[in-house]
Amino acid sequence: MAKLLEIQTGEKNPILRKKSVKIKKIDSALKKFAKDMKMTMIEKDGLGLAAPQVASNIRMIIVTLNSKSNHERVTIMINPVILEYGEEIVVAEEGCLSLPGQWMEVERFKNITAEYMSLEGETHVLKLDNLNARVIQHEIDHLDGILFIDRVNEKTRRV
Ligand code: CO
Repeated sequence: MAKLLEIQTGEKNPILRKKSVKIKKIDSALKKFAKDMKMTMIEKDGLGLAAPQVASNIRMIIVTLNSKSNHERVTIMINPVILEYGEEIVVAEEGCLSLPGQWMEVERFKNITAEYMSLEGETHVLKLDNLNARVIQHEIDHLDGILFIDRVNEKTRRV
Protein backbone atom coordinates (compact mmCIF):
# COMPACT_ATOMS: atom_id res chain seq x y z
CA MET A 1 0.00 0.00 0.00
CA ALA A 2 1.20 3.43 -0.86
CA LYS A 3 1.50 5.84 1.99
CA LEU A 4 0.99 9.56 2.20
CA LEU A 5 4.27 11.41 2.66
CA GLU A 6 4.76 14.62 4.57
CA ILE A 7 5.42 17.68 2.42
CA GLN A 8 8.40 19.84 3.31
CA THR A 9 7.50 23.50 3.33
CA GLY A 10 9.20 26.84 3.72
CA GLU A 11 11.42 29.06 1.64
CA LYS A 12 14.39 28.47 3.94
CA ASN A 13 13.85 24.75 4.64
CA PRO A 14 17.37 23.22 4.26
CA ILE A 15 16.04 20.03 2.62
CA LEU A 16 14.41 22.12 -0.10
CA ARG A 17 17.60 24.12 -0.55
CA LYS A 18 20.00 21.20 -0.98
CA LYS A 19 21.20 19.87 -4.33
CA SER A 20 19.86 16.34 -4.75
CA VAL A 21 22.07 13.42 -5.77
CA LYS A 22 21.82 11.28 -8.87
CA ILE A 23 20.09 7.91 -8.50
CA LYS A 24 22.46 5.03 -9.25
CA LYS A 25 20.26 2.03 -8.63
CA ILE A 26 16.58 1.35 -9.22
CA ASP A 27 15.51 -1.07 -6.50
CA SER A 28 12.27 -2.07 -4.80
CA ALA A 29 12.68 0.63 -2.14
CA LEU A 30 12.88 3.29 -4.86
CA LYS A 31 9.82 1.85 -6.62
CA LYS A 32 7.88 1.89 -3.37
CA PHE A 33 8.95 5.47 -2.73
CA ALA A 34 7.83 6.45 -6.26
CA LYS A 35 4.38 4.99 -5.54
CA ASP A 36 4.19 6.93 -2.29
CA MET A 37 5.18 10.11 -4.12
CA LYS A 38 2.53 9.52 -6.76
CA MET A 39 -0.17 9.00 -4.16
CA THR A 40 0.98 12.08 -2.24
CA MET A 41 0.95 14.28 -5.35
CA ILE A 42 -2.54 13.15 -6.32
CA GLU A 43 -3.85 13.44 -2.76
CA LYS A 44 -2.43 16.98 -2.38
CA ASP A 45 -3.72 17.98 -5.79
CA GLY A 46 -0.30 18.87 -7.17
CA LEU A 47 0.68 18.85 -10.83
CA GLY A 48 4.16 17.67 -9.96
CA LEU A 49 6.27 16.63 -7.00
CA ALA A 50 10.02 16.36 -6.51
CA ALA A 51 11.65 13.94 -4.05
CA PRO A 52 13.16 16.69 -1.84
CA GLN A 53 9.63 17.97 -1.22
CA VAL A 54 9.01 14.72 0.65
CA ALA A 55 12.36 14.86 2.43
CA SER A 56 14.52 12.76 0.12
CA ASN A 57 17.39 14.50 -1.67
CA ILE A 58 17.49 12.19 -4.68
CA ARG A 59 16.92 13.12 -8.32
CA MET A 60 13.42 11.86 -8.92
CA ILE A 61 10.34 13.82 -9.92
CA ILE A 62 6.79 12.94 -10.72
CA VAL A 63 4.81 15.04 -13.17
CA THR A 64 1.34 15.16 -14.62
CA LEU A 65 1.64 15.65 -18.37
CA ASN A 66 -1.20 16.87 -20.60
CA SER A 67 -3.17 17.79 -17.48
CA LYS A 68 -6.95 17.79 -17.84
CA SER A 69 -6.87 16.35 -21.35
CA ASN A 70 -7.63 12.89 -22.72
CA HIS A 71 -3.88 12.32 -22.85
CA GLU A 72 -3.26 13.09 -19.19
CA ARG A 73 -0.62 10.84 -17.67
CA VAL A 74 1.44 10.77 -14.53
CA THR A 75 5.11 10.14 -15.31
CA ILE A 76 7.92 9.27 -12.94
CA MET A 77 11.28 10.62 -14.02
CA ILE A 78 14.59 9.47 -12.61
CA ASN A 79 17.64 11.70 -13.08
CA PRO A 80 15.79 14.10 -15.40
CA VAL A 81 17.87 16.60 -17.38
CA ILE A 82 16.97 19.29 -19.87
CA LEU A 83 18.97 18.69 -23.05
CA GLU A 84 17.70 21.66 -25.02
CA TYR A 85 15.82 24.89 -24.50
CA GLY A 86 13.82 26.72 -27.17
CA GLU A 87 14.21 30.47 -27.68
CA GLU A 88 10.80 31.55 -26.56
CA ILE A 89 10.00 32.60 -22.98
CA VAL A 90 6.48 32.43 -21.58
CA VAL A 91 5.06 33.80 -18.35
CA ALA A 92 2.42 32.07 -16.24
CA GLU A 93 1.37 31.82 -12.64
CA GLU A 94 2.90 29.04 -10.57
CA GLY A 95 2.33 27.63 -7.14
CA CYS A 96 4.12 24.93 -5.16
CA LEU A 97 3.01 22.43 -2.52
CA SER A 98 6.08 23.48 -0.51
CA LEU A 99 5.04 27.15 -0.52
CA PRO A 100 1.36 26.99 0.34
CA GLY A 101 -0.72 30.01 -0.54
CA GLN A 102 1.87 31.64 -2.79
CA TRP A 103 1.10 32.12 -6.46
CA MET A 104 3.30 34.20 -8.72
CA GLU A 105 4.09 34.76 -12.36
CA VAL A 106 7.26 33.00 -13.45
CA GLU A 107 9.16 33.12 -16.73
CA ARG A 108 9.98 29.74 -18.23
CA PHE A 109 11.17 28.39 -21.55
CA LYS A 110 8.20 27.50 -23.72
CA ASN A 111 9.88 24.49 -25.33
CA ILE A 112 12.32 22.02 -23.90
CA THR A 113 13.74 18.61 -24.68
CA ALA A 114 14.08 16.50 -21.57
CA GLU A 115 15.74 13.17 -20.93
CA TYR A 116 15.00 10.86 -18.02
CA MET A 117 15.02 7.27 -16.95
CA SER A 118 11.85 5.36 -16.17
CA LEU A 119 11.39 3.07 -13.17
CA GLU A 120 12.04 0.23 -15.61
CA GLY A 121 15.47 1.68 -16.29
CA GLU A 122 14.72 2.83 -19.83
CA THR A 123 15.97 6.16 -21.13
CA HIS A 124 13.33 8.41 -22.66
CA VAL A 125 13.65 11.69 -24.52
CA LEU A 126 10.62 13.97 -24.69
CA LYS A 127 9.94 17.23 -26.49
CA LEU A 128 7.62 19.30 -24.33
CA ASP A 129 5.94 22.67 -24.51
CA ASN A 130 3.86 25.12 -22.50
CA LEU A 131 2.48 23.67 -19.24
CA ASN A 132 4.28 20.33 -19.68
CA ALA A 133 7.60 22.13 -20.13
CA ARG A 134 6.82 24.46 -17.22
CA VAL A 135 6.07 21.64 -14.78
CA ILE A 136 9.31 19.87 -15.62
CA GLN A 137 11.40 23.04 -15.30
CA HIS A 138 9.76 23.72 -11.92
CA GLU A 139 10.35 20.17 -10.64
CA ILE A 140 13.95 19.91 -11.88
CA ASP A 141 14.62 23.22 -10.11
CA HIS A 142 13.61 21.49 -6.87
CA LEU A 143 16.39 18.94 -7.44
CA ASP A 144 18.85 21.82 -7.53
CA GLY A 145 17.47 23.54 -4.43
CA ILE A 146 15.70 26.24 -6.42
CA LEU A 147 12.16 27.37 -5.60
CA PHE A 148 9.89 29.16 -8.07
CA ILE A 149 9.97 32.35 -5.99
CA ASP A 150 13.70 32.56 -6.77
CA ARG A 151 12.77 32.97 -10.43
CA VAL A 152 10.23 35.70 -9.89
CA ASN A 153 11.32 39.08 -11.14
CA GLU A 154 12.08 41.38 -8.19
CA LYS A 155 9.64 43.96 -9.54
CA THR A 156 6.74 41.56 -9.70
CA ARG A 157 7.49 39.70 -6.49
CA ARG A 158 4.78 40.42 -3.98
CA VAL A 159 6.20 38.96 -0.76
CO1 CO B 1 7.24 23.00 -6.34
